Amino acid sequence: MTKTARQLHLGAILAGVGTEQNHWRHPDLPGDASVNIDWYIEHARKAEAAKFDHIFIVDSPFITPDTAPHFLNRLEPLTLLSAVAVSTSRIGLVGTLTTSYWEPFNVARQFASLDLISRGRAAWNVVTTGLEGAARNYGREEHFDHALRYRRAKEFVEVVEGLWDSYEDDAFPRDKAAGVFLDKSKQHRLDHKGEFFSVAGPLNIQRSRQGRPVIFQAGDSDDGRGLGAAIADATFAAAADFDSALAYTTDIKSRAAALGRDPDHILVFPGVHLVIADSDEEARAREDARIGKLDFQKSLVELGRFFNYHDFRRYDPDAPFPDVSHLSLNSYKSSAEKVVRLARSENLTLRQTVERVVASRRSAFVGSPKTIADEIERWFTAGAADGFNIRAGEASGFDRFAAEVVPLLQERGLFRRDYEGETLRGHFGLPFPQNRYASARLADQAAE
Ligand SMILES: Cc1cc2nc3c(=O)[nH]c(=O)nc-3n(C[C@H](O)[C@H](O)[C@H](O)COP(=O)(O)O)c2cc1C
Repeated sequence: MTKTARQLHLGAILAGVGTEQNHWRHPDLPGDASVNIDWYIEHARKAEAAKFDHIFIVDSPFITPDTAPHFLNRLEPLTLLSAVAVSTSRIGLVGTLTTSYWEPFNVARQFASLDLISRGRAAWNVVTTGLEGAARNYGREEHFDHALRYRRAKEFVEVVEGLWDSYEDDAFPRDKAAGVFLDKSKQHRLDHKGEFFSVAGPLNIQRSRQGRPVIFQAGDSDDGRGLGAAIADATFAAAADFDSALAYTTDIKSRAAALGRDPDHILVFPGVHLVIADSDEEARAREDARIGKLDFQKSLVELGRFFNYHDFRRYDPDAPFPDVSHLSLNSYKSSAEKVVRLARSENLTLRQTVERVVASRRSAFVGSPKTIADEIERWFTAGAADGFNIRAGEASGFDRFAAEVVPLLQERGLFRRDYEGETLRGHFGLPFPQNRYASARLADQAAE
């Protein structure tokens, strides 16, 4: 089968012991997976062997005693990915880092370092932190307001990208004979003064062979999508079913086009949970069991996460969904608003609301290897997704996916049989970002 022009992209989410209630109890899963570097290296190598584009590390800086297992005790993304970088050679390395509690100069330096250490495979998943409680880990009483933190995030990313251009690609002749280490005309200060940040620069690290790290973004509200459309090379989407995936992908690409961007240069990766079995019936039965095993009290706590860990266990579960209008909804805004809209529009009790939220976690990718491949092909060819971020690790079906579904996708010409590029930007088929100062000089010379 000849290769289709548009190629599917695959990412592996490495989340150790997992974020779901019972995942960590799987007999094959090491209890310390989330803080065990060997576990991450092993699974990054598995994803690389299956020719995946990247591994993905989620992150957030706030926990409570009720927080999900993986989030309670895990490695910091950039530190973790630097170790994985020297144990792999082709797999992309996506790390999540919030714009709300870091400084642009430091973030620019850290990702540029990972990009050089990995020889051009780094990516930054830009988030603004949905958990309001994080504020108190950084000397603030209140989290940044939702709209403000997204405005701040846009300026933050612009500053980081400006700093990444501090050195033109040929700024360092390192000519020992002539004694010229740096061509000073190719080092540039940024002198940024904005609403939220004032950053002089230059950054003290050169660009990589992919120009600069790839930018991912995750956030589903109107502001979240606006930010993604403006800055992202790729987005991580929470689209649980085909229709919402198609709606999101169509929306984010039309927003990007409206900003003058090429919609093919923003790739959409829905996050998916796979349930693979010999037959569709067996897989569906396993999915029913997974959903059926979820503990109601724990699901109540998980619902609270959208509302900054508001404790819904205090309410009568068989009474109408409680009035939460007193809560700021400044956390996971889009998710919280969706829950309230659902409960109000259908007059649901708290229990019914939890059951609906839990049901929405049913995977759309349940079945035999062929059924999973068919569903992936359906989403991909319909434009509902450019790729998928697949949960990896023991008990995730990842091994079976790599061994049985990937070959089907390769046979259909949808997915690479081997890496062509060596950088993540190359894997994504994205253009090389010219250094802005070098481009300006060329444009001036052309104008002369
Ligand atoms: C698929 C997906 C993955 C996300 N991963 C993270 C993450 O790793 N860390 C984080 O702080 N927020 C993460 N978020 C949360 C978003 O950054 C954002 O805070 C949240 O979706 C609320 O978005 P909204 O405020 O735009 O509604 C993720 C969101 C989505 C949709």
